[in-house]
Amino acid sequence: MISDSGADESTVAGDDVNPELNPPADARDEQSAHPQRRVRSFVRRQGRLTEGQNRALETLWDDYGLTLENGLLDYAALFGNANPVILEIGFGNGASLLQMAQNAPDKNYIGVEVHRPGVGKLINDADRAGVHNLKVFCDDAIDVLARCISDSSLDGVQLFFPDPWHKKKHNKRRIVKPDFAQQIRTKLKIGGYFHMATDWEHYAEQMLEVLSAAPGFANRAGAGIYSPRPDYRPITKFEQRGERLGHGVWDLVFDRIE
Ligand SMILES: C[S@@+](CC[C@H](N)C(=O)[O-])C[C@H]1O[C@@H](n2cnc3c(N)ncnc32)[C@H](O)[C@@H]1O
Repeated sequence: MISDSGADESTVAGDDVNPELNPPADARDEQSAHPQRRVRSFVRRQGRLTEGQNRALETLWDDYGLTLENGLLDYAALFGNANPVILEIGFGNGASLLQMAQNAPDKNYIGVEVHRPGVGKLINDADRAGVHNLKVFCDDAIDVLARCISDSSLDGVQLFFPDPWHKKKHNKRRIVKPDFAQQIRTKLKIGGYFHMATDWEHYAEQMLEVLSAAPGFANRAGAGIYSPRPDYRPITKFEQRGERLGHGVWDLVFDRIE
């Protein structure tokens, strides 16, 4: 089942409500109802937690979980080392993020996802795999960036298969827009990278347009060109779904140059 956001609700969100037929209240046009409210890139739904996810959230949160109340993070204190820090926005069920953390023990990963079942699954799987170079937030990434991430502190930011919000009237919910690009730039070190991937051509074009016009970034592949998928990025769950539907995949890597 594909929701308005484009997310596969039956697999990641795990909802039994079809948002196309019965849209949640906050999926309606928020701006006309509440002109001051921020347009968010997600709709927070009740997802059913499995027993394992629930247990993980209760017992493993102290080891893996972070909240906005943590304030600005001290990475050295958090991870016990001075390794590079990569932040991933919207990790879904976390399988590809866990694989990356396992493959790169010399890096630290911070995952941000609003969907609790996905967060529960990731920390459960991370604990089983003995992976500890990983911390997670269950919050809106916009708030995490603003409140918990120091300026010029990240080595990389990853945004893999963000909700495409494919209907024209919902395009405004897409997370990649000029002010978001500047928020990411502020949090990256000079030389740090912003890696995006999508299987929606129209969104890929928007990403390319927004980041190419954003001051302070350079396209690693060259002006107007998409990047080949770097070896370090595993195939994600949504990418597999896109492949089944015959979608292409576009990777974009932009470096902060100033
Ligand atoms: C289409 S899914 C892709 C998941 C995963 N990256 C993959 O490729 O399998 C997009 C995810 O982004 C999350 N998301 C959307 N906006 C977000 C935000 N502002 N902060 C944190 N997570 C967000 C959604 O909950 C959803 O799980």
